[in-house]
Amino acid sequence: MKIAIFASGTGTNYQAIAAAVAAGQLPQVELALVLSDRPQAPVLAKAAADHVPTVFVDPKAYGSKMAFEEHVLEILQNHQIDLIVLAGYMRIIGQILLAAYRGKIINIHPSLLPSFPGKNGIADAFAYGVKITGATVHYVDDGIDTGPIIAQETIRITPDDTLATITEKMHQIEHRLYPAVLAELTEKG
Ligand code: GRF
Repeated sequence: MKIAIFASGTGTNYQAIAAAVAAGQLPQVELALVLSDRPQAPVLAKAAADHVPTVFVDPKAYGSKMAFEEHVLEILQNHQIDLIVLAGYMRIIGQILLAAYRGKIINIHPSLLPSFPGKNGIADAFAYGVKITGATVHYVDDGIDTGPIIAQETIRITPDDTLATITEKMHQIEHRLYPAVLAELTEKG
């Protein structure tokens, strides 16, 4: 199965998936493309160093979100992508991609959805004072962090924790959870 990772930033989840592929833990997965909406996103350099095809698509270069997504779709079709894996992609998926890849777009979110959707899942949960948070992998629908949940893993927040320690713990579980979900999804075919 050919996957495209969409990312806007650092790309540690990309690295975790790439490492799992390199270690032979995801035999059904071909890491076929990394797409970013930010030219300077470190994930692009990381993928290029791994010899994974990369593409930057500038959302500002199109007259509308639809035109932007039509171009993205063309790129995905050229690479024969089967599954879109969002990993820190800071853009809402629109109707063109949703229609073409219905049920074939997944996302990882750093909170226990449906609690704390949106851009600041870790900080919002920490500020609220919840004692348990975690990561969620879900299918993407037309809401924000609302699609059907595939898997979740929890983190306990103790009195000693800070936003920094929770963030670190979050990344650790994400890096385990995302490859595990991909293994399960791709083994099912
Ligand atoms: C992750 O925490 C993910 O849950 C969120 O964005 C972050 C991406 O981190 N959607 P990275 O770029 O994979 O390091």
